Amino acid sequence: MAGIVASILDCDFTRLAEEVGAVDALVDRFQIDVMDGHFVPNLSFGFPIVRAMRTLTKKPLEADLMIANPDRYAAKYAEAGADYVIIHVEASQNPKQTFREIRDAGGRPGISLSPGTPAAAVFDYLDEVDMVLVMTVHPGFGGQGLMSGQLAVVEQIRDKLAEAGREIPIEVDGGIKPETARPAAAAGARLFVSGSFIFRSKDYERAIAALRESIQ
Ligand code: DX5
Repeated sequence: MAGIVASILDCDFTRLAEEVGAVDALVDRFQIDVMDGHFVPNLSFGFPIVRAMRTLTKKPLEADLMIANPDRYAAKYAEAGADYVIIHVEASQNPKQTFREIRDAGGRPGISLSPGTPAAAVFDYLDEVDMVLVMTVHPGFGGQGLMSGQLAVVEQIRDKLAEAGREIPIEVDGGIKPETARPAAAAGARLFVSGSFIFRSKDYERAIAALRESIQ
């Protein structure tokens, strides 16, 4: 079952409750981009936004940790209310330990990789996580164009999961809109994160309907 994940990075934070309320019935999950200015060249938000989002929606929340020290903070994002806590394979010193800590805190772990990181970098963790996030842009900013070379990474992970008989979703994030979501779905993605295509549109319902149509 394919799912749409609204990334709140591009929404109007002076009206967060209204923005979330406007799409809550239309999307399958929300993603919260956590950036520390070290792992990525941007700063965003932390625990207070996760706690606020937890009061605004019952939909699953993803905390996407684009931070240099995910091992130290990951479990705390589950405690703050995130259902999924996603750590970057390039940043974690001890992913398996951190996955256990996320689960102990009531969350579900995910592993993410950036452009330039080979698919094989996450193969050892596919048994330990509940989702894999393939970044289709260099993480750090919304509104970028999808890097089509990342679809080959999606295919390699899809094939590895099939070989292992492991049924967990592959998520793509960055530059997702109908014309890019369709080939990503063909490559094996099942979750589609979208920020600017939704929150910079004049008609959220129409934008999400077009996205959903493209991934069916
Ligand atoms: C970028 C973030 C994405 C971003 C997606 O590093 O991880 O979640 O919000 O935004 P769009 O859909 O605009 O590329």
